[in-house]
Amino acid sequence: MEIQEIQLQDLDVEAFIAEQVKAIGDAAGDNQAVNALSGGVDSAVVTLLGHRAMGDRLRTYFIENGLMREGEPEYIEKIFADLGVKVEIIDAKEQFFAALAGVTDPEEKRDKGITQVFYKDVFGKLVRDCGANVLLQGTNYTDVEETVAGVKRQHNILAQLGIDTEKAYGYKVLEPIIRLRKPAVRIVGKALGLPEEIFTRPPFPGPALATRVIGEATPERIALVRSATTIVEAELADCGAFQYLAILHEDKVTGLRDGKRDFGHQIEVRCWDSEDAVTGTPTNLPFEMLRKIADRITTEILGVVSVTYNITAKPPSCIEAV
Ligand code: XMP
Repeated sequence: MEIQEIQLQDLDVEAFIAEQVKAIGDAAGDNQAVNALSGGVDSAVVTLLGHRAMGDRLRTYFIENGLMREGEPEYIEKIFADLGVKVEIIDAKEQFFAALAGVTDPEEKRDKGITQVFYKDVFGKLVRDCGANVLLQGTNYTDVEETVAGVKRQHNILAQLGIDTEKAYGYKVLEPIIRLRKPAVRIVGKALGLPEEIFTRPPFPGPALATRVIGEATPERIALVRSATTIVEAELADCGAFQYLAILHEDKVTGLRDGKRDFGHQIEVRCWDSEDAVTGTPTNLPFEMLRKIADRITTEILGVVSVTYNITAKPPSCIEAV
């Protein structure tokens, strides 16, 4: 791999910020640039670097793909408005669900369902419409490593898969934090003035809840896993883990409700201790905490009859299910 990681102990935060701000300014010249903000720490850091470099010549878009957490677009818009950054929300729900319809294979879901729609259809048009030639995005070192190693195709990896974005989509992609892993990105975020609730946020994948639905990601199945995510995130908010999530399984199982057979959905809860997502171990959560999550999910979400907890390390498990 040609990209050289900047290790945490070698990171000079202020020098890094100055270097990236200059690189963004140089690449954009007098043009506008477009920026993809998902609300995670990586894209949040890139947004502030880009804003420092270009001010209002940077157009920051949040793509409402229908796959995000509850209330996410409004939450991110408000956080960034407080930082002086205007975020434009683009409603692309129908485009994403149309591309995901009928797709069950994980890699196809990532490529056809997410990558193509995101870069070609949605950003292709946004970049063209405002006459920009550069897209900024928050790819980090772990994303590259996993894709190159063939673990899974991270939605935001292009050049390393041989994709020439200028040819394929009509714009250059700039990745200011590609040499950093998550702990380093968080430090840069803090130095840039991001609020703590953003720079300490647990990671959330670009393809969002589509990576947490095994099988077809329909609007209904995404809504179900979104409700479970809200419960898991609320119950585990203070547990100190690296990342925690809910997954909707494809198979249904027989359950029992009100004395009658109920053939219903299964939710799997995962909670990870990890430094940088390359390896991970399941968090040793108190059993009572797990029981409470199961009770809430099965009483608050209609049709769920089973909740399990993943006790497998990564590897051989992965953090996400898809
Ligand atoms: P896995 O599931 O590969 O996840 O063990 C490792 C870390 O990466 C996140 N993840 C993604 N992030 N685009 C992203 O930006 C993606 O396509 C993607 N897939 C997984 C995952 O949440 C975990 O933190």
